[in-house]
Amino acid sequence: MNKTVNNLKISYNDEGPDGAPVIIFIHGFPLNKSMWNNQLEALKANYHVIAYDIRGHGNSDVGDEDFTIDLFVNDLLNLMNDLKIEKTILCGLSMGGYIALNAIENFPERFDALILSDTHCIADSPEAKVKRMKAIENIKKNGVEKYADESIKNLFAPESFKSNTGEIDAAWEMIVKTSRQSLYNTLHALSERKDTCNKLTDIKVPVLILVGSEDIITPPASASLMHEKIKGSFLHIIGHASHLSNMENPAEFNDQLKKFVDSVCYKQLNNIHKMKNLSKENLNLNQEADKLQKGNHPDLNGQNQENGYSDIDAEADLNSKILKITMTIMDQYPELSKYIEEMPVTIPKENNPEITLANLKAYFESLNLMLNKYKTEHPSIEI
Ligand code: MLT
Repeated sequence: MNKTVNNLKISYNDEGPDGAPVIIFIHGFPLNKSMWNNQLEALKANYHVIAYDIRGHGNSDVGDEDFTIDLFVNDLLNLMNDLKIEKTILCGLSMGGYIALNAIENFPERFDALILSDTHCIADSPEAKVKRMKAIENIKKNGVEKYADESIKNLFAPESFKSNTGEIDAAWEMIVKTSRQSLYNTLHALSERKDTCNKLTDIKVPVLILVGSEDIITPPASASLMHEKIKGSFLHIIGHASHLSNMENPAEFNDQLKKFVDSVCYKQLNNIHKMKNLSKENLNLNQEADKLQKGNHPDLNGQNQENGYSDIDAEADLNSKILKITMTIMDQYPELSKYIEEMPVTIPKENNPEITLANLKAYFESLNLMLNKYKTEHPSIEI
């Protein structure tokens, strides 16, 4: 499919049910949207999944403007506007992660959650900038195929060259399909990108960080640094993978991705797969949850102001706790998932922060109660 965005043809794949939670995938350099084929396939039953070609890549036009990460973010926002997507989950790999980090810094209200894969928050060092300029010279001198041969060595783990030749060939094809003009423009844009590390503490949405264990371009240490700075984030290292971890080990990548987005969207998903009758046991839990919700909650607003702890921080904190406990349940007690889906407590984002916080707190407490009750009743099962 194509859309004209900023007077430019942008090509994208769009699958999954209307009304389902939206996930937008942003590819790395110098690849294109087809690097996400496997993830779209794995998620399209429950999610509205979109992967697009960044300008100058895949089937999107190059245009006349100089490339910058800001321009790429502007394209993303305009694509979302054109597709009438007010909010989305963003999943970016490497350059896609740079775009995602810049986008959330400037338009936090447009994103529900982030998946940052094989990426980092640091800007190019002077040496890295020189390497980019040398790469441009090499492409001019030796051609794109030679550039693809060299690049591919850094994108995949050594063992993948024996076991994963299909994906390696696919990535090579993506690189050679990218026009020279676009390679030069993008290398410039990457070298000029800003550091986003000092903005990570401002991120208040759920974040999953994934990285290939053998990634030498954006190594696990860079992922850990982001993990430390983004409060409540999750970090998972993908085994048997280097920089293109989603292509090299799609099973593990998709498993982590799915668990995360299922946890972030459990309520929305529930609306899609509406559960019917409440079981007796669940009814009890619901009553407990109801009681908690109706109980006297302290004036969180006032308390927070006194402590210098803002409502936004409190909301992010509770969301992160809810996400953690939901992931624990889905991961270790999947038999309880159905009760989460049936819980009556919705978490509306009220205009009144006090009510939003009270709802979140009640919801968190009811999840806790359910888990503890279950563990008490099934003492043989230990975390
Ligand atoms: C990518 O995969 O997008 C690139 O490795 C990013 C970069 O060169 O900084």
